[in-house]
Amino acid sequence: MQLTDSLGRNINYLRLSVTDRCNMRCFYCMPKEGIFKKGHEAVLSYEELQLIAETAVGLGIEKIRITGGEPLVRAGIVAFLERLAGITGLRHLALTSNGLLLADMAADLKRAGVQRLNVSMDSLDPETFKQITRGGDLGRVLAGLDAAEKAGFPPPKINVVIMRGVNDSEIFDFVEMTRRRGNSVRFIEYMPVVREQGWQRYCISGDEILQRIAGRYNLEQVDKGRYAGPSRDFRIPGAQGSLGIITAVSGHFCSECNRIRVTSTGQAKGCLFSDQKTDLIPFLRPPDREGLEQTLRNIVTTKPERHGISNDGYTHKNFTMAQVGG
Ligand code: GTP
Ligand code: 5AD
Ligand code: SF4
Repeated sequence: MQLTDSLGRNINYLRLSVTDRCNMRCFYCMPKEGIFKKGHEAVLSYEELQLIAETAVGLGIEKIRITGGEPLVRAGIVAFLERLAGITGLRHLALTSNGLLLADMAADLKRAGVQRLNVSMDSLDPETFKQITRGGDLGRVLAGLDAAEKAGFPPPKINVVIMRGVNDSEIFDFVEMTRRRGNSVRFIEYMPVVREQGWQRYCISGDEILQRIAGRYNLEQVDKGRYAGPSRDFRIPGAQGSLGIITAVSGHFCSECNRIRVTSTGQAKGCLFSDQKTDLIPFLRPPDREGLEQTLRNIVTTKPERHGISNDGYTHKNFTMAQVGG
């Protein structure tokens, strides 16, 4: 079965957030005091998340990416992933993590059936990393990357949110990582979701990032696969890893968007930046498979054509990425 939206886009990818909690406090993602802790009952149980996943796969979703907050801080996550991996028809199970707990958990994640990992790492300098994450330990993340490969994962893709004056001087260090370590690296446009004081100064377009790289390296274009996300990928000839640009704000990829998302509190969204969301709780408590199926179908058919975050005067309600899962 295939899921197609009103613009003919094939929707085969669900981003499922399992928690909005996190063991870091990246300044572009959440305030330093963290976000309001929801009551236990507001967060979907693993049984409810499983029902959503099974229903989505039944409708034509083939890839699920588990997101957070930080998914690895939720107790019982490994057993949940193992059950998810067993869903008939699910072809790809992936997870996005900040990497802090990966050194301890990579082997268990592999055994559970997770196929790929994306890891956020915005600086290769321990001090800058600490500043961006408000206290994170870069050494732990690097140890996590090593542990992932030792556990048999393909080299994790590295997500780097590029911010002018913060870490844009490290672009070439990350580019070199695609040769030195063999990881693929994606440079992400900073998205003003928290709208912290003076956020405008951080913005650098994906085009500018790409131009800077192309000024120094020859780049080959890398073809997108069927489940490919928003990244436009290139490779330095001979490098094992690719490098990509995610123009999250300029939004060049909306016309090829293949995904829907569900938050850890059961809000389904057709687009990351849309204020439109649908509460799935009425179809989960008690479980109503048919209602859930119909509602997920509606999310797909009413998926917006594109987001308007780059339009002048556009205002979306403030949210933190940890609440939606990116
Ligand atoms: P794969 O293609 O499966 O590797 O995943 P991905 O790159 O989509 O996922 P990841 O969780 O690593 O997210 C990378 C960045 O892309 C994050 O900053 C996300 O917020 C951003 N992103 C993911 N999906 C969307 C989207 O639909 N719209 C926008 N604007 N940004 C997105
Ligand atoms: N702008 C760009 N990327 C962001 N992420 C979180 N918040 C933002 C933001 N404001 C990224 C993280 C992680 C991914 C899931 O989303 O760095 O890699
Ligand atoms: Fe945590 Fe990721 Fe948000 Fe950083 S970007 S605070 S690691 S959820």
